[in-house]
Amino acid sequence: MAEVVDHYNASAPTYTEQYDETMIHTATEYPANYFRLKKIKDRINELGIKSVYELGIGDGSPITAMARMGLRVGGSDFSEGMLKVAKQQFVDNGFDPDLLTFGNLDRRDTLEAAIATGPYDAVMALGVLPHVASEDAAVKNMSNFIAPGGTLFLQFRNSMLSLYSFNRLTMEFIFDELLAPVSPEIKNTIKSELEPRLAMDKPPRREEKHEGPAYDEILAKFHNPFELQNLVIANGLSFTKFHWYNYHVSPPMLASTLGQAFREAGIELEATDDWRGMFLCSSGVIEARKN
Ligand SMILES: C[S@@+](CC[C@H](N)C(=O)[O-])C[C@H]1O[C@@H](n2cnc3c(N)ncnc32)[C@H](O)[C@@H]1O
Repeated sequence: MAEVVDHYNASAPTYTEQYDETMIHTATEYPANYFRLKKIKDRINELGIKSVYELGIGDGSPITAMARMGLRVGGSDFSEGMLKVAKQQFVDNGFDPDLLTFGNLDRRDTLEAAIATGPYDAVMALGVLPHVASEDAAVKNMSNFIAPGGTLFLQFRNSMLSLYSFNRLTMEFIFDELLAPVSPEIKNTIKSELEPRLAMDKPPRREEKHEGPAYDEILAKFHNPFELQNLVIANGLSFTKFHWYNYHVSPPMLASTLGQAFREAGIELEATDDWRGMFLCSSGVIEARKN
């Protein structure tokens, strides 16, 4: 499997396009990151959060947006390419680039100096959990940045969308997750009946325009929201809520049939906040509070 860091080093120069508000209706890719950031910013305002630390800052767009909201900020990333772009965003916006440092969410030893700059009111990792070696270590390392009462925002790729995608991922989810405790005989009967009804050749592999390995070629795990809820609780936090984004009004394989209507209906759904997100969204953010 290709290295996660190589993918991000290569995508760093063009990553900022994903946050361009003027391109929501026209950008080649659905503007999922834009909506993710909007939801977190709204929540930070609602909760009166005054300081935030971000792990896996990427090109620096989210943490710059938060510095512009007047928050005390800090952040790190393990991609030198991303770090360079993020530091430049800080310089361009009049913020201190030394607040952004190298750090690996998987390795506590790389985060000690950053943890010492805390505690912060909130800690977040957006787009990072799919790539970590240990989810448990990631939550523990994040938790060190906040004091009791502090808020954690952890983004994940939602495995529940598989139940609405009617493709290879549906089969994998049913076989490996939903029916994990069931006997192979029963599972195999279900598999042979279901497979012909599902689009087993989908999803197609993503094509990347830059030099590094494509997103499909790196470790990019899906997570089950119920399991994540248990994980944060096991690490001394209380579950608050899920924030859902990247809505799929239809199964993804019908997106091109619906064309712009798929995009526009998705954008409308981004304004909703209910249980449908668990099945219609490819991503979510779990919010939890440290006990
Ligand atoms: C999808 S991008 C998201 C960037 C940013 N958080 C955002 O929301 O735009 C994921 C970022 O996490 C970084 N990353 C992945 N695994 C990491 C790890 N173990 N430690 C630190 N950063 C990591 C990548 O280099 C990349 O910059």
